[in-house]
Amino acid sequence: MPASSETKIIHFSDAVSGFVDHGLLQVTISNPPVNAISAAIREGLMQAMDMVETYSVVHGLIIRGEGKFFAAGADIREFDLPPSEPTLPQVTARIEALAKPVIAAINGPTLGGGCEVILACHYRIASETAKFGLPEVKLGLVPGAGGTQRLPRLTGLTAALDMIGTGCTISAQEALKNGLIDEVVAPENLMLTAQNVAKKLIGTQPRRTLELSVKTEDTEQTAAKILSKARGRGAPSEALRLVSLSATLPAQQALAEERATFLRLRESEEARALRYVFFAERDAGKQSADSTVATRKVTTIGIAGTGLMGSGIAVCALAGGYQVIGYEQSEEAALAGYQRITALLDKQFQTGRLSEQALQQQKANLSVSADIAALSAADLVIEAVFDDLTVKSELFAKLDKVLRPDAIVATNTSYLNPDELAVQISHPSRVVGMHFFSPAHIMRLLEIVNCAQTVPDVLATTVAVAKKLNKLGIVCGVCEGFIGNRIFSAYRREAEFMLEQGALPHEIDAALEDYGFAMGLFAVYDMAGLEIAWAKRKRQAATRSPDEPYSPIADRLCEAGRFGQKNGKGWYQYQDGKRQIDPDVTTLIETVRLEKNIQARSFTSKQIIAQLLQVMADEGTQLLQEGIAASPSDIDLVLINGYGFPAHKGGPMFTAAQSKTKTTGTSA
Ligand code: 3HC
Repeated sequence: MPASSETKIIHFSDAVSGFVDHGLLQVTISNPPVNAISAAIREGLMQAMDMVETYSVVHGLIIRGEGKFFAAGADIREFDLPPSEPTLPQVTARIEALAKPVIAAINGPTLGGGCEVILACHYRIASETAKFGLPEVKLGLVPGAGGTQRLPRLTGLTAALDMIGTGCTISAQEALKNGLIDEVVAPENLMLTAQNVAKKLIGTQPRRTLELSVKTEDTEQTAAKILSKARGRGAPSEALRLVSLSATLPAQQALAEERATFLRLRESEEARALRYVFFAERDAGKQSADSTVATRKVTTIGIAGTGLMGSGIAVCALAGGYQVIGYEQSEEAALAGYQRITALLDKQFQTGRLSEQALQQQKANLSVSADIAALSAADLVIEAVFDDLTVKSELFAKLDKVLRPDAIVATNTSYLNPDELAVQISHPSRVVGMHFFSPAHIMRLLEIVNCAQTVPDVLATTVAVAKKLNKLGIVCGVCEGFIGNRIFSAYRREAEFMLEQGALPHEIDAALEDYGFAMGLFAVYDMAGLEIAWAKRKRQAATRSPDEPYSPIADRLCEAGRFGQKNGKGWYQYQDGKRQIDPDVTTLIETVRLEKNIQARSFTSKQIIAQLLQVMADEGTQLLQEGIAASPSDIDLVLINGYGFPAHKGGPMFTAAQSKTKTTGTSA
């Protein structure tokens, strides 16, 4: 309930203020945009509790957040500084120990340390818009203010393990069901309900979460599921260990262990890397696109080509709330395109990712036509046809005849030069690249290519559209392969040279998987199929300089009819879908070594990783010097989100900067 004009507002700190009404102190935490729990919030809450304890006319405390969020967790920006008092565990301990009732009026999402604040309160009422999560593991951490001990006492061990071990977020209804909160109300009723509850609780014994007991449960399956997804990260297993302690150790002892673990992990390389990635994602695009430029209005997106890529892009555009007009060359292809897109939508509905209402709405927003003139209604057209200069140029020439002169034209090319396509368009300043990754409706990464003539408002509009498509848009300049494929080519080349020098595919893959990649390079190749890259190499053979180092091993595999998983043999042989080392591949590699007169040497996993990371970082440095990438962190984000680089290592540029700091003692 807002304070009336006569109410005296008390400022407890720069970020916490409140007023007393009917004997209750109602405080609001305010640290825009997400109420991250900063030193000022911790200090303000302590001051507010001083007041509750000091004045007998104040009978209880209600805590709410200003704006959309209750609190998005501890202020991550403070994690590189030494901890300062009052610490969050001190605040939560004091909330819980207060002799007068403390009610959390949870107006919106509450995460991490924010969630730990409400867990310490004596009663929790949430608005329907609230969400709950302890996402610390995603930052390489564990909850550090009592979350691992209080949550299992409210929800039981399994639910707590699941939330803390995965860092997932749950809705207010789910939180009510699992016991995390006591009540859910409509947003407009939140404060009135909180006041009524507080009045009823005055004079009663506060319900302290830590005084509840934890029942033992069989958590083996949940724990195994979490650990199987940890892939080299340390935080999930620490989270599981701490939550399990809630059932075996006295609360205060377990809290001390939680705090010590939190402080230790805060300094870990994993946590530093994940913090870097967190802020890198938020900064992406900020440097490259001018946020002061007015963007163009985009309500309708045209998609020329509704094959595998185009249909995935259409699904993203529909989810972003756009009208979508697909285009195909024949009625038959248009129908097939429409069916491909609606099949993807139906699948999302079946798996619960789309409501019935959203499914119907999105289908109503979709049409696919065999008449290119249908695209004249589009504000932005994304072409997603076969990646061939002639095919795409012909399409661009046709688009030029039907599109509005201010419509943005985007190409989804992976390797072609978009500037060569832009010549087909009468106003080339509206041409931009939008390089989606396959499957386009799942992969978060989008390379936004700032072409030679792209004007700032077209770039800014594309960045804004990417956000609505729920993509991580990374702006880059024009070069062969843009950021991702160019670095990937260098990395692939180096790995193949390593084969010539003495390593074997399974050794390289094992090193990469141990490092944290979801799949080794050669296993990925086999999954994707080898023949498209082979065809490209054959096309490039005529222009390749004879002086350029070249490894023929991949060509020899294809010549031997080994195209990957699809025909059961590639870099490996496959039996029942399982990859196995193939002695024929080893022989083939040894033959090449012999031909080139190379004396094989052995590689340790450490050497393999160091060599591959170095190549990636060198190519990244080159991209920065050429002005293709705006920042090292943009390069890292591309590799993490498009090429399976483990986020908890921060990316090749981060890793290179870290090792430089270690060797020189200076920050890069
Ligand atoms: N600390 C500091 N800044 C934060 C923050 C946090 N916990 N959470 C978000 N921000 C900042 C972002 O950096 C961004 O700043 P910018 O505008 O200068 O770029 C701004 O808030 C808005 O964030 P988003 O762009 O991410 O906004 P969204 O609306 O897309 O997402 C969110 C909001 C879901 C809250 C998302 O920001 C998020 O997931 N935040 C992190 C939540 C988290 O991990 N909390 C746990 C922290 S660790 C902890 O609490 C330890 C404790 O146990 C002791």
